[in-house]
Parts: sequence; C-alpha cells; structure tokens
Amino acid sequence: MPFYSDDIIEEVRSRNDIVDVISQYVHLQKKGSSYFGLCPFHNEKTGSFSVTPSKQMYYCFGCGAGGNVFTFLMNYENFTFSEAMEALADRAGISLPKQEMTGAARAEADKRNQLFEINREAATYFYSLLRSEKGKFAHDYFVKRELSPETMQKFGLGYSDKYSDDLYRYLRGKGYTDDVLKDSGLITIDEKRGAHDKFWNRAMFPIMDPNSKVVAFGGRVMGEGEPKYLNSPETMIFNKSRTLYGLHIARRTKKEQFILCEGYMDVIALHQAGFDNAIASLGTALTSGHANMIKRYGKDVYLSYDSDGAGTKAALRAIPILKEAGITCKVINMHPYKDPDEFIKNLGQEAYQQRIDQAENSFMFTLRILERDYNMKDPESKTKFYHEVANRILEFPDELERNNYIEAVASKYQVGFEQMRQMVNRMGTKVGLASEPKPLKSGVQKKQTREDGMMKSQRLMLTWLVEQPSLYQGVKAYLVPEDFTEGIYAKVAGELFSQFEEADGVNPAKIVSMFADEEQQRQVAEIFNTSVDGIEKQADFEKAIKETLLRIKQNSMEQKQRNLDPTDMAGLSQMIEDKRRLQELEKLHISLK
Ligand code: GTP
Ligand code: MN
Repeated sequence: MPFYSDDIIEEVRSRNDIVDVISQYVHLQKKGSSYFGLCPFHNEKTGSFSVTPSKQMYYCFGCGAGGNVFTFLMNYENFTFSEAMEALADRAGISLPKQEMTGAARAEADKRNQLFEINREAATYFYSLLRSEKGKFAHDYFVKRELSPETMQKFGLGYSDKYSDDLYRYLRGKGYTDDVLKDSGLITIDEKRGAHDKFWNRAMFPIMDPNSKVVAFGGRVMGEGEPKYLNSPETMIFNKSRTLYGLHIARRTKKEQFILCEGYMDVIALHQAGFDNAIASLGTALTSGHANMIKRYGKDVYLSYDSDGAGTKAALRAIPILKEAGITCKVINMHPYKDPDEFIKNLGQEAYQQRIDQAENSFMFTLRILERDYNMKDPESKTKFYHEVANRILEFPDELERNNYIEAVASKYQVGFEQMRQMVNRMGTKVGLASEPKPLKSGVQKKQTREDGMMKSQRLMLTWLVEQPSLYQGVKAYLVPEDFTEGIYAKVAGELFSQFEEADGVNPAKIVSMFADEEQQRQVAEIFNTSVDGIEKQADFEKAIKETLLRIKQNSMEQKQRNLDPTDMAGLSQMIEDKRRLQELEKLHISLK
C-alpha cells in the first residue's frame, strides 16, 4: 500500500468536487445549500442522502453513511483508499508520484496488477473459446442447463480447451514469464513435466471480486466425473474466505437481504430468475470473513443452502457466524428440491419468491433440526429437549426477545408459556444470567441515553462551528478540544480548531482524510452533519448555543474532577477558574457572536 503525503491527498480531494463525483452515481437535487437524493447505501423512498458543497461531504440522515469523496468511492465502489486515490487523481488529471511507494511495496503492487491482468486475459480467452467451434460441447452443456445467452455473458462463462497447456502457451504468447504465471494459480510448472494448465476441458466460471475484477476460476466437468469442480488455489489476489461469488452484481441490489447459497449454478440460476441479490461462498464453509463482507454492504441474509444433510449441517454452522457479525438470517425451505437451481427449474420464480416470504426464523430452524435428535413421544427425551431449548433461549440477552422466543416455542412445541418461562429463568439464575434482568437493563439504558445526549451536544457544537465560522472566536474563549470527550471527537475538534487558527480556513472534508478507518470517516461526517429541530429565530439559536456550550463544559469538568489528582495544585486552580467562568456565562447574558 503506497503512502501518500497529506498534501497530495488534499490536492486530489480538493480537485474533485464531491457534487460532481456523486452525481455520476446518484441523482441529486438542490435543496437550500445542499443536494439531496436517494441513498445508495440503503433502500429508501424519500431522499435522506445529502451532499453539501460547502463542507465537501455527504451524509445520509437515514442510515448514517457519510464521509468525503474518498469515503464515497471506498463504500460505493468498494475501493481501497489507494484505489480511490488513483481513480480521483486520474479524474482530475493529477499524476501521482510513484516514488512515494517503497521498492518492496511497488514490486508487490506490480505483481498484483499482473495477476489481475493474467486472470482477465484468461477469462477473455475462455470466453471466446466457449463461443468458438472448440467450445461447442461446453456451450451445449450450458444450454442444457437452461442458461440464456445473456446470463452466460453476464457471468462471463467460458471453456478451457482440451490440451493441457493451451492457456499456458496463450499467456506466454502475451509476454508473461513463468515466474509470474506460476503465482497466478492457473499454471503449474513442474521440473519434469514442464508447464501445464490447472483447468482443461472444463466449463469455466470466472470468480470476480466486488469491483468486478476476475481473481480466480471455478471449472466444472461437463457431465459426470471427479472432481466435479476445480477451483483456483489462493493467490495474492484470491482469498477464499473473503470471496463471495456473485457479490459484484448483488452489491447493487435494492433489496435489504442477500440470498446466500452454496454453488455457482445456484447463484446464476437465481440471477437469471430475477433475484439480483444472490451470492455464494464457494465450496468452503462460511467464515467470519464472509460475514463481515456481507455486513459491509449492510445486508441481512436469506440462507438457501442445499436441503440435504450436508447443506443443513452447513446452515447450522453458518447461522451463529452470521449472528456474531450482527446479521439477521432466515432460512429458505427448498423442499422437495435439492438446491435453488433445481427448485427454480421445476417450480419457477414465483414459487421461490413464496419460499422467501415464508422463510423461517433461524433460531426456530435450529430448534426444528435439533428436535430430530429427540423422541418427542418419550417423556424423558422430550424433557431433555425442552431443557436444551431453554438453555438456548438464555443466549438472548434481551428479556423481551427471550419472551418472544418462549412464546414461539410454547405455541409450536405444545408447552405452556409460563412453564417454559420458569424453566428459562431457573436455568438463568443457576448460571448467573438473566437473574433480575429488569433493574440491570433499565440502568444500562439510562446511561446510554445520557451518553447519546452528550455525544449529540458535542456534534452539534462542531457542526455549528463549521456552518457559522464566526462563532469560533466566542466559543474558543470557553472550550478547548479536550472538552469533546467522546471517542474521536477530541481529535476532530483539535483539527478543526487549528484550521480556524490557520490562514486557509475551515476544511472539514480534509479532516475526514485524516482517519484511515471507514467507520471513523463516517463518524466525522456525522459530527459535521448534526442538527436539531425547533430553532427558528436567531434568539432561539443563541440560547441553544449557550446551553450546548454549558452542557459540554460541565460534562468535561465533571470528568476531569473525577480523574483529578488531589495533589495537582495547578489542575485544581484551573478547575476553579473554569468553574467561575462557567458560572459567569450561566448568569450573565454573554453573546457569543
Ligand atoms: P452443479 O452440480 O453444477 O449444479 O453444481 P452446484 O453448484 O449445485 O454444486 P454443489 O451443490 O455440488 O456444490 C456447491 C459448491 O461447492 C460448488 O459450486 C463448488 O464451488 C463446490 N464444489 C462442489 N464440488 C466440488 C469439488 O469436487 N471440488 C471442489 N473443490 N469444490 C466443489
Ligand atoms: Mn446444483
């Protein structure tokens, strides 16, 4: 990863107007001093997505997505920061200094680029073979599997020739050396037998990364044969546990869930039937890496794994992994068919949509499978089942949620609600969970709201400063950056305050670039896009500023007081001075303007 200087980052940022860039992706309309449109990061009917030219930032009041022009491309195109830099430098006609990369980093970047190129060349080659005389059998195979020409094109399907060094010779002809070819995963070079292709005489499925770059392949035997599928090994550009087949298309879906299935053909059949949200983790079990990818796109999941024993087992393993990542998941029942591909072929698109609508809550699915291990006609076995169920219900930390599941279990498994609830509570007391959940919960909640209120006060103040720079002189007499006590707020305030002191003036979008993490960039956008209702008159506004300032200072002083070393005389006298000034501000009508 190259290291760009702050100056070049800022130059690239400032020469790409955020309204121009985002307009290429989102239809924006001017309203007051901002532009609004439908948020590309969540599904909505009213435009809560704002782009403000004066701040050079975007922020969605619906889902909280936000940042500067870099953040936007990183989220929308799933670019890394370097890729966003390159794209925007290119757009503005700025050439990026190459020497800023260390020798080793440059070599690695070159290698990666070559691997991307090789995979693209191979995909194009396989694609054209499929459409040539040589690929007729493979083409017939896809047709037999009811794929339309559009679908074959959309997924870039291809064919690898029956000679085992066909691709090798083709790529050598393009000028690639053995050294880089052997790292591509497509060619093995063996001292004795020489070079040969990984894939030959197979129906080819290119695997794309989220930016539609080919990173690997799957190859299927046409008909019976072992192994049914071959997949590229992991390479510098292909990490199996972070790759989801079909994601490059599904990421643009307007639906709020992805349909997660097992195989290439499932994804392809679903897309062909109009389900543009289908993805698959290929042949490997779902990992937390996959789950985090899904989370990044803000989606929940419909699980559509095979209905056989292996598929059910895989689903049982996937559910907790998804849950851990904060993803809600429902399970689609494919009975009597094995997988989505077969289901759609037999019953069609509408029937599958019905199965989506009837998808089962993942916890209830887990219980249904669990029940198979118990004999519900035998009182002892049945009791054990209820115990196990109660045990699992305990894993929900929220009492209301626990009660809802107890209710669902009670009605499905013929057991009284009260009986089940008591069993859960008894077990909870035993393991020290869920005992007296009420006071604990309300206590937590109260603290939460007070913290939220303080965070909002601090954000409001920073937003006001950016929107009305003339406030700064008045505010700085009372507040220092450290008074912004929440997370990254002090750092943001510090940067903002120093911008005020510098000749170039306020530049909030530059502050976004100072944070590497996308979540932090989002928070900076949130900090500078906070508003409150009910301020109509100038007098209201002045009152609000004064109250907010007092609240922030008081909170910060309370924190300081708690941490103050009683022998710290300088700290003590500073504290007394601060208090005095605060009381003054409280009593007198001091205008901040
Ligand atoms: P079709 O039989 O063509 O419909 O394939 P499918 O997509 O239904 O495949 P299946 O459900 O049998 O397997 C799901 C996924 O597991 C496939 O898409 C492959 O990614 C992977 N897979 C299946 N068989 C093999 C194999 O023999 N070797 C490897 N490495 N992966 C396999
Ligand atoms: Mn199948």
